[in-house]
Amino acid sequence: MTANTTPLGSGHARIYLDHAATTPPDPGVVDVMIPFLREQWHNPSSIYVEAQRARTSIDEARATIAALIGAQPDEVLFTSGGSEGDSLALRGVLAASRRRGKHLIVSSVEHHAVLDTAEQLERDGIAEVTVVGVGADGRVDPATVEAAVRDDTVLVSIMHANNEVGAVNDIAEIARRVRAKNPHAMVHTDAVQSAAHLGVHVDRLGVDLMTITAHKLYGPRGAGALYVRSGTPLQGQIVGGGQERGIRAGTEDTAAIAGFAHAMTLASERREADLGHERALQERLLAELPARIPMLAITGPRDLAHRLPGNVSCTVGFVEGESILLGLDLAGIAASSGSACTTGSVEPSHVLVAMGMPSELARGSLRFTFGRGNTDADVDRLLEVLPPIVQRLRALSPVPIAEPPASWLPWLAS
Ligand SMILES: Cc1ncc(COP(=O)(O)O)c(C=O)c1O
Repeated sequence: MTANTTPLGSGHARIYLDHAATTPPDPGVVDVMIPFLREQWHNPSSIYVEAQRARTSIDEARATIAALIGAQPDEVLFTSGGSEGDSLALRGVLAASRRRGKHLIVSSVEHHAVLDTAEQLERDGIAEVTVVGVGADGRVDPATVEAAVRDDTVLVSIMHANNEVGAVNDIAEIARRVRAKNPHAMVHTDAVQSAAHLGVHVDRLGVDLMTITAHKLYGPRGAGALYVRSGTPLQGQIVGGGQERGIRAGTEDTAAIAGFAHAMTLASERREADLGHERALQERLLAELPARIPMLAITGPRDLAHRLPGNVSCTVGFVEGESILLGLDLAGIAASSGSACTTGSVEPSHVLVAMGMPSELARGSLRFTFGRGNTDADVDRLLEVLPPIVQRLRALSPVPIAEPPASWLPWLAS
């Protein structure tokens, strides 16, 4: 894969360890897309033969994706990506269920596409939101969700896998409990991070709605899908042209949709190999980081059965994660912190805070996410450059590096 080969002045190739942010498009995906950009660019809603070919390609892509997630083709709505899918699920179900109620349940570690939508819906008086907490490993306890379900609950939205700490939730069990308590409540899952790694079969997960996006699975930016189980109440949020069964208007991006379907097919074919490869890199880094850097805590589930393959998240005491990232970037390594930068101040990650981590410690958060193109040599290089970066930053700290506060100890010991 070409993603890691851009040379840098140091003589080292750039190393990309941020696959949870986006993945490099697979060359085969790009090959599938190019003819749609060069020749078959016609509007699929028109009536001439070229347009009908574009329509057929979209139908084929829909059928491919539907088969891969265990759905019927007309249960797959194309969107622009994960944010739109999440937004449509929450807004669409709430709007279509007004007569039944307005209670919405989300977890505290959802992506902001869900959390901010829920907040906006509540502010506008459209939803009454219950936010369920998570354990110290970032996972949602199905019993907590069950306890939050009420007679007027219309939608429960719990992510399949968390983008920051890689925690994988037992969505099947959550859906089972929700349904047992209120058979009318709908269950949505944001499977944006899990779709590439775990396989996401809608019946096995037991969900009514599911969000996926192409650019996290070696597909293009700008294409995603919302699975909507037949019979689920959903009001369109972008109306006009009547595309996507009148639920999501807008001329379809045939190239991106065809690329998305091909990326999903490749993900399914390569799942076992990808998983083994990413697990091996993940296991090594998870074991070696705490051994090489004092006062470093691994975050997220320790049991790999409950963790996305390829995710290594941690937090480093007495250093800002963003400063470490700048040092890593200079050394040729692209990684992420998981926290959002707002107006110059770095807020600690809402996920780590929801897990109960003291915010001072959460400021040192880092996230490394492996993909198909990474090698053992990338882990070697990270382990070579990261400890001196941390050491240098701690040495520069204006506040003396003291003994860690007692509240940090359970995190540093785990
Ligand atoms: C869990 C999760 N949900 C939603 C999104 C948003 O997806 P998109 O970037 O395709 O809008 C992301 C992207 O980071 C994500 O990780």
